[in-house]
Formats: sequence, structure tokens, C-alpha cells
Amino acid sequence: MNTTRTAVPWDYSSVVRDHLRTTDSAIDIGTGGGERLLELRAYARRLLGVDPDADMILQASELARQERAVNVEFEVGTGEGIDERFDLAMNRHAPFEPGVVHRLLCPSGFFVTQQVGENNMTSVRLAFQLVSTRSAPIGPEMFLQNGFSVERFEEYDTSFTVRDIDSLIFWLQALDMAHSDFNGFDAQRDVDAINRLLLTSLSSEGVVTNEHRYLMVAVKK
Ligand SMILES: C[S@@+](CC[C@H](N)C(=O)[O-])C[C@H]1O[C@@H](n2cnc3c(N)ncnc32)[C@H](O)[C@@H]1O
Repeated sequence: MNTTRTAVPWDYSSVVRDHLRTTDSAIDIGTGGGERLLELRAYARRLLGVDPDADMILQASELARQERAVNVEFEVGTGEGIDERFDLAMNRHAPFEPGVVHRLLCPSGFFVTQQVGENNMTSVRLAFQLVSTRSAPIGPEMFLQNGFSVERFEEYDTSFTVRDIDSLIFWLQALDMAHSDFNGFDAQRDVDAINRLLLTSLSSEGVVTNEHRYLMVAVKK
């Protein structure tokens, strides 16, 4: 995909790695297809990815098998009902329950989450006439009230440009509710919305929109 983004203040996987020791166990809540978790396998002793979508878990398990990642496992679920305790829990662009995360962690265990911000892709949402009723997905209070201290809480809202029409269509098709309120995209059905987007947001560089993200690193007290 041909896209550009202005510099951002953190890289999620690096933040997770900075809080992982090679002797640690970690759980990824809402792991999806498992690609990101598998990239961390050299940095931990044991990794478990959970996701309520059984197809995603099947895909992730197959990838782990192909890559012979013996210290990475995947199972269907949201983390609820797991008795094991982990040194670190992570969650990228997926729902979670602070109380469940707290229970899954060892004392002083870390929780790292990156969430899509409520103002993400404003120009696209306007063109597609999606009315955002969202509020900030995370904030320090929800952690402080659930037995955590907050090590880091940051957000960025930066410019994101999709530079050609093929990339624009590919990108719109790949968007999901977590990123945009989108629940499916169809190039023919949504032609008026695409035209509105081109009218309002096309620059000499491509279609300009924004990427809004939050990062939280919380520690179990
Ligand atoms: C946008 S994807 C993110 C996947 C992966 N974390 C990543 O960064 O690529 C969101 C994932 O959250 C999962 N999900 C949906 N509801 C969930 C819940 N209540 N608890 C945990 N995960 C959930 C979905 O099945 C999906 O795989």
C-alpha cells in the first residue's frame, strides 16, 4: 500500500518489547491473526494469544505451526476464565475488560495497550456520513480505578496520506469497526462517498486523513 504518515512518538511493538524479559510469559488479548504476537517470540519465554473469533485463532495457530514457534500458543476467548498469571498483557486495537486484565497479571505485571482514537480518520468518516458517538476509548481513570498505576499515557493525532487510488480502495476495504466505524465497504455502492472524499481531501500528495491513537502502559499494584 502506498501511504505516508508523519512521524509518530512511539512504536507499539517496541514499547511491548521494552517491558518484556526473555524469561517472561505474556498474553495478547484480541490477537487477531497472530502476526504481531509471533514477531515477539524471541523476546519472551511463553506467549499466549486469545481472540473470540475462532477463524482468526485457526489462522494464527497455522502460522505458528508453519513458523515452528514452539513458545507461542493461541486459543479462542477473551482472557476471561484463564487461570494462568502472566508477567505482561498486551492488547492492540481490540476490546478488553480492565478487571479481567488485572486478574490475568502477576503482581507488578505490565499491561500495554494501543487503541484507535475517537477522532481517527475524520475526513473519511465525514465523507461516508458516519456520525461518531465515540468518546476516548481509554483514559488513566479506568486503570486507576481497577488496581493499576499508570506508567505512561499518551496520544497522537497525525496526518495520514493514501497516495493512489488502488491503495485507497485496498485500504478502505481493509478497514474495520475498530479503525473507522466502518462495517463493510463496497466500491460501487459507496461511489458517492468516495467522490465526496476526493472532493474534500485530495491534495497533490494523495487523499489526506488522520491517524489518532492512544497508548497506555499500566502496572498492576
Ligand atoms: C482490529 S483487530 C486487532 C487484531 C490485532 N490485535 C492487531 O493488532 O492486528 C480486533 C480483534 O479484536 C477481537 N475482539 C473482538 N471482541 C473482542 C473482545 N471482547 N475481547 C477480545 N478481543 C476481541 C476481534 O476478533 C479482532 O480479532
